[in-house]
Amino acid sequence: MVSPALDEILIGESEGTRALRAQILDVAENNEATVLVTGESGTGKELTARAIHTCSARRDAPFVDINCASLPPNLLESELFGFEQGAFTDARARKRGYFEMADGGTLFLDEIAEMSTPLQSKLLRVLEQRTVRHLGGTEDLPVDVRVIAATNQDIRALVPEGRFRSDLFYRLNVVPIHLVPLRDRAGDIPSLLEHYRLTLNARLSRNCTGFSGDALEALCHYSWPGNVRELKNILERILILYNPSVIEIAHLAREVFSPPSAAAGPLRLTLPPEGLSLAPFLASVEDELIRLAMERTAGNVTQAARLLNVPRETLRYKLSRILPAGGKTGTELRRQGSP
Ligand SMILES: Nc1ncnc2c1ncn2[C@@H]1O[C@H](COP(=O)(O)OP(=O)(O)OP(=O)(O)O)[C@@H](O)[C@H]1O
Ligand SMILES: [Mg+2]
Repeated sequence: MVSPALDEILIGESEGTRALRAQILDVAENNEATVLVTGESGTGKELTARAIHTCSARRDAPFVDINCASLPPNLLESELFGFEQGAFTDARARKRGYFEMADGGTLFLDEIAEMSTPLQSKLLRVLEQRTVRHLGGTEDLPVDVRVIAATNQDIRALVPEGRFRSDLFYRLNVVPIHLVPLRDRAGDIPSLLEHYRLTLNARLSRNCTGFSGDALEALCHYSWPGNVRELKNILERILILYNPSVIEIAHLAREVFSPPSAAAGPLRLTLPPEGLSLAPFLASVEDELIRLAMERTAGNVTQAARLLNVPRETLRYKLSRILPAGGKTGTELRRQGSP
């Protein structure tokens, strides 16, 4: 049975996400197995790793995360395994490594594909022997750690290229968890939107009550290249900038329908296979051009109206539609700050 707590952490009602929650609970029950989480950026790899930890018997011990791409190989090695005083020039005092810090808990190795191959061999040794040896040390220190690794690369394809050791790949891939892109599990979108509307309302002191039908449809058909992180960020921007009572299609103009800029060449449009709603789409293009004109003129309505060749009063009226939060001008919007 899916625990209610996990339902509240890992949101989504698609079949795939329900199966993912069940898999997380299975993996959590087995306290040892190494897990390899793969998926595009923003699909929830770290969230999944933390959920496995939280649902497991290791929950009261530390969850230690390290991004393998964030440190040069030597530093990563000393941070992971620890070192003795004098092991290298800057080793002024003995230091415990991340493996020891995570003892009893979980070590999350993010962007594992970026780890150098010599370090991959050393990691494999630790995983097989369940002991670590400090740099410059002689003692093998036992560690009880579950390793969860993550990558947004096709790590299997790196093996024949010699960029990832096959023995480490198989050692990590005991439990593979692949997170599918959000565009391929559109069934999750409504519940994610609802979840983030509520949590962002609370965090930002907003009172957004929902989405218009058109806006919801557009959000469900959008391709979400940045996956769940992008969805959360878009909602956050809209709530901060517009403080809307209902999220309308006009709020999405810049985010979801943004036409290519003039600098990128003539406007080229594609018709999505499922078609689109012409009027809201055209309105979103109009809104974007108005926004650009307001930006270029630093919020001066008279100059912006001249740029767009429309009467000033027409522009004022259109602005009040685009900016329901009291019809703020571009300058006022910028002053509130874009996150
Ligand atoms: N199913 C989900 N339910 C709720 N929030 C989610 C879900 N999936 C992802 N998120 C949220 O989306 C954001 C990105 O998730 P996360 O950092 O886990 O992605 P990632 O796959 O590790 O991305 P990257 O490869 O860029 O590091 C986080 O704020 C996370 O809480
Ligand atoms: Mg991540």
